[in-house]
Amino acid sequence: QRSYTIAVLPGDGIGLEVMPPALRCLEAAAARFGFQLEFRSYPWASCTYYLEHGKMLPDDWKVHLQACDAIYFGAVGDPATVPDHVSLWGSILTFRREFDQYINLRPCRLIPGVTSPLANREGKPIDFVTVRENTEGEYSSIGGKIFEGTDRETVIQNTVFTRTGVDRVVRYAFELARRRPAKKLTSATKSNGISITMPYWDERVAEIGKEYPEVTVEKYHIDILCAHFVQRPHTFDVVVGSKLFGDILSDLGPACTGTIGIAPSANLNPSANRADRGKEWFPSLFEPVHGSAPDIAGKGIANPIGMIWAGQMMLDYLGEKDAAEAVMRAIESVLATAKDAQMQGGADLLTPDMRGKGTTEGLGSAIEKEIRG
Ligand code: NAD
Ligand code: IPM
Ligand code: MN
Repeated sequence: QRSYTIAVLPGDGIGLEVMPPALRCLEAAAARFGFQLEFRSYPWASCTYYLEHGKMLPDDWKVHLQACDAIYFGAVGDPATVPDHVSLWGSILTFRREFDQYINLRPCRLIPGVTSPLANREGKPIDFVTVRENTEGEYSSIGGKIFEGTDRETVIQNTVFTRTGVDRVVRYAFELARRRPAKKLTSATKSNGISITMPYWDERVAEIGKEYPEVTVEKYHIDILCAHFVQRPHTFDVVVGSKLFGDILSDLGPACTGTIGIAPSANLNPSANRADRGKEWFPSLFEPVHGSAPDIAGKGIANPIGMIWAGQMMLDYLGEKDAAEAVMRAIESVLATAKDAQMQGGADLLTPDMRGKGTTEGLGSAIEKEIRG
């Protein structure tokens, strides 16, 4: 029987709440499509672990994660007890960089049943993918602080674009665009103001674009691109950007479709081969786009769909295409039915971020049941 080992890292806040129903959805898919999932849960990569051990990860974290086929990650962060840069650089950002997960894939779709806050969309669908550079760019470790505590205090953090780093993400985005019906690539830059690194990104897009004459390429500065996301989100297909710009766009896009609570994220190292598992191989990581949401943690009302959809991307990555398809259909059919039921005054499954009164547990269970068929 086909079998996969999954490292499960729920993290903090709502990460701990959306993980259990999402695991049940994956179990349901495994049972229906005849494969096995072995979940290995770890308490580290969380602020609770940090408060107890003074570090985010145990020394042998890599051994544990490299023994798995994929990593399923909730959300980390508890700014009230641990500074965000400590908890995030000690967990997710370390994983992305150490495992060279250079592609951060973030699909964004308007799903019937979820209400977009945007008016005048004329019923047009929204369906695009953000391809975010995930290992370098603005999130570099190069820089420092001098003259600390004086009025000459100076802080510097350099942006790093390497030829390899830019080319591999841009090429991935072109390949993706080429396989999609609209065959359109939008590149996010800021080459008017950031005058060295961003024009370099533009150059590489233009150069690699020569290999893909069938793909229409457009580029925008990040400021106006944000405006276009709000005013005409239906016109985007594949959007490629640096670590920081991709971060901004991948919250803005889902917000345009109703909520960031449904948005998934795959951190991929497409060059790694799962046959090398257990050796020096680099597993990929699947997580929701959202964070630990301290403002709603503990209330049981977090939307579990971002976590479940990330699991769907993980099944697809593992090669379980039918199971992945079934999970996506289940999310869609539960959302559509939930909206109808809500409008008819029936049980409300939609969580508050989707303008409902539902709970994590209620919505998660409905999707799980739908997957079981
Ligand atoms: P956030 O995504 O946690 O929350 C932003 C807003 O969206 C909040 O109002 C929250 O209630 C809402 N929200 C988020 N997910 C939701 C869901 N599933 N259902 C319903 N509502 C949801 O972002 P933030 O507030 O900027 O960050 C909070 C903490 O999470 C910080 O410590 C931050 O560093 C961390 N963070 C972690 C990750 C990650 O682990 N990958 C990602 C983003 C933020
Ligand atoms: C994300 C998050 C992270 C990022 C933070 C928590 C470091 O916002 O995954 O989108 O900026 O990459
Ligand atoms: Mn983000």
